[in-house]
Order: sequence, then C-alpha cells, then structure tokens
Amino acid sequence: MKTIALGVLASGRGSNLQAILDASQAGSLPATVRIVVSDVADAHALERARRHGVEARHVDPKAFPTREAFDRAVMAILGETRVDLVCLAGFMRLLTPAFVAAYRHRIMNIHPALLPAFPGLHVQGKAVDHGVKFAGCTVHFVDEGVDTGPIIIQAAVPVYDDDTAETLSARILRQEHRIYPRAIQLFAEGRLEVQGRRVICRGAARAEGTAALMNP
Ligand code: GAR
Repeated sequence: MKTIALGVLASGRGSNLQAILDASQAGSLPATVRIVVSDVADAHALERARRHGVEARHVDPKAFPTREAFDRAVMAILGETRVDLVCLAGFMRLLTPAFVAAYRHRIMNIHPALLPAFPGLHVQGKAVDHGVKFAGCTVHFVDEGVDTGPIIIQAAVPVYDDDTAETLSARILRQEHRIYPRAIQLFAEGRLEVQGRRVICRGAARAEGTAALMNP
C-alpha cells in the first residue's frame, strides 16, 4: 500500500504528534510524518519531531502582518514538502479560508469533546461543569468554522462524580492517542468519503443489537 506524507501542525506538548509518530514507526500506519510546523518556538512538539529525525520548523506569527500571510508561509512549507494530509494536533490557531480551501478534506483536527457538543477551548472542564455522563474526543475534517467540520471518528469515555477537568482530560487524552492514528489510517487506505456533513467509512465494523454504553 502507498504511504502518504503527513504535515503536522502543533502548538504545544505534542502528545498526539507522538502517537502518530509511534504508530507510523511501528508500521501500523501507512503514513509518514514529513514535517512538523509550530507557531510556538519552544513547543515540545518540535523537540519530539527532531528526536524522530523529522524536520521541525517554527513559523513566528509575529513576523507576519496578517493571519493570511502567516498561513501562506505555512502553506508554502507544506507545499514544498508535498504533504498529502495536514494534521492539526493541538494547533491553537484558526486556519484562514484560503488554507482550508487549498486542502479541502485534507486537513484533520483532533478535539477533546464529543462534537458538536463543546466546541472551542477548555472543553473538558465545561463537560464536567455541565454534568454530562459521557465525554470524549473527535477527529474531524477542518472547514471554515470552529470545530464544525465533518466528523470522522469519535471515542466516548464516562464522566465520574469526582472528575475534575484534569482527570477527565487525562482519560480523554488516552483515547485521542488511539483515534488520531486510526483516522489517518482510514484516510490513507482511501476508505473515507465525505458526503455533505457525513464522512462515510467503507468497511467499518458495527455493533448490532442492544450494544450501548450506560453511565452510571
Ligand atoms: C489535545 O487534548 C487536543 O485534543 C487539544 O489540545 C490538546 C493537545 O495536546 N486540542 C484542542 O483543544 C483544539 N481545539 P497534545 O499537544 O499533547 O497533542
């Protein structure tokens, strides 16, 4: 099977990047991270990339007059590297419409909530405060909105009475590290088809009958 080229954009710790690098290195992912770009000079994600021998670039937003100009610089790097898929992994900036249009249905994002519930920031704490019994994470294609694009894969985790934003975040993060490589794998295998808001996954398994999660 053909191996696709990934460009990962990250602003911080980079644990999702690490999960992707590990899956790629283990041979379980027909995809290779070719470049990591960060808007934050000392993002740990850049260090993780370098440790894996992956090119790591800092692009300083302050060096550009507009968001469009910043995005053009990032797009130029991704274009030079000929990436097939752009993965946002804790990238804390909104992409401009020109970027989204240039990579339509070829940009994924991971979000630590069960979208469309809780878009935006600090969502694990919002889920606890709201009293939901399930939370989780979503990988979706990026469109022009904030966390609004077509949903590829989700994982649900229970929320317990003694949870805090921190304990719930940790439970969700473990699932993020499972579903992001899986979403990339489905893309690389050519199994995803976007039909309007829906992402159809060819050959996906399904739980029939009375399969359901319940909490408590
Ligand atoms: C992850 O929890 C990711 O879902 C979230 O930031 C964290 C990055 O962690 N992304 C967003 O909130 C995007 N709106 P990481 O740097 O360790 O991958």
